Amino acid sequence: MRDDCRIAAMLRAQKKHVSFHTPGHKRAGADITELSYSDDLSSPRGAIAEAERDLAAILGAAASFLLTDGSTCGVHAMLYALRAAGAKRIAAPVFSHPSVSRGCEILGLKLCPIPQKTVRGIPAQPQKEEIAAALEEADALLLTSPDYYGFFAPLEEAAALCRGAGKPLAVDGAHGSHLHFTAAHAGKFADLWVDGAHKSLPALTQGALVSAKEKKWAEKLREGALCFRTTSPSYPIMASVEYAFKYPRNEKIERAAEAFKCAHGCVKNDDWSKILVPFGERSHEAARYLEAHGVYPEFDDGNYLMFYLSPCTKERELKKLSRLLKAFGGGRVEENAPAGAIPMYSERP
Ligand SMILES: Cc1ncc(COP(=O)(O)O)c(C=O)c1O
Repeated sequence: MRDDCRIAAMLRAQKKHVSFHTPGHKRAGADITELSYSDDLSSPRGAIAEAERDLAAILGAAASFLLTDGSTCGVHAMLYALRAAGAKRIAAPVFSHPSVSRGCEILGLKLCPIPQKTVRGIPAQPQKEEIAAALEEADALLLTSPDYYGFFAPLEEAAALCRGAGKPLAVDGAHGSHLHFTAAHAGKFADLWVDGAHKSLPALTQGALVSAKEKKWAEKLREGALCFRTTSPSYPIMASVEYAFKYPRNEKIERAAEAFKCAHGCVKNDDWSKILVPFGERSHEAARYLEAHGVYPEFDDGNYLMFYLSPCTKERELKKLSRLLKAFGGGRVEENAPAGAIPMYSERP
């Protein structure tokens, strides 16, 4: 862990002790519960408060809240905050993550769907006009940027529309934490946003952060986080989220990823960290071939294999993928192919 990570430093500073507290494994190491020295996620005053303040400063937020329950919890907390501010109808694209529709259901909010076209099997981000039309019927807007396929929503235009209408903008940035170094990050435009640190930064699975740009949203968002968060937060996860946002940018791998996309005829998307290789009908075969060589993509939607990178991806790993793709050969996706089936978005009955 880095020296400037407050939660990790607090954990390291503690002497071994006899545990008459949870968790039941009784190893009083990093995986502890909320004790007198380890602070309290629900009302932090120590290392957790310091870490949250640091992260808010990094993201340009008035307040940021650590989550150990994934971006799902962050989406629900944002919806709670929007409702607390009086919103009853939320405009969101039809291909939003299920946490959006489920959150609306739990909170009694009406979902106003923004239509999305499909281009070569990929849901296209809604255009300004479609957003404007949906916003007329809604009290708040919730966009996803970047989406799972690495396309940015038109956040600048959406923010201007929301400002003009006096309606808040929330952004699901589950796939965009690594963009916090850039002008494309959700925090540059949104009133509320969630960063899925565990997806594209080196945080443990389920580590995320939800933030409010201005102070006036902070209390409502805090209540939302309290409402949906576990009361037994994982210290390793919290420490890893702090570490992830303090992890340096890796421009070398960003450039290597863009060069890779050009060399392999990948989809021209906006986000360096998502590589989409078109295979069409051969996508399952390609996935099996790669797995047989020890390479696992993020998903195979029946049109594309998606390879998910982070600042921790190694250039030699990209080179291995490159060799295998050349050996397997490419495929193509038809102009009017239907949207693929993203495994974790598909609901099983
Ligand atoms: C766009 C989007 N939002 C939210 C989520 C939920 O994130 P988590 O799995 O961290 O709860 C996902 C998960 O894949 C997602 O793709």
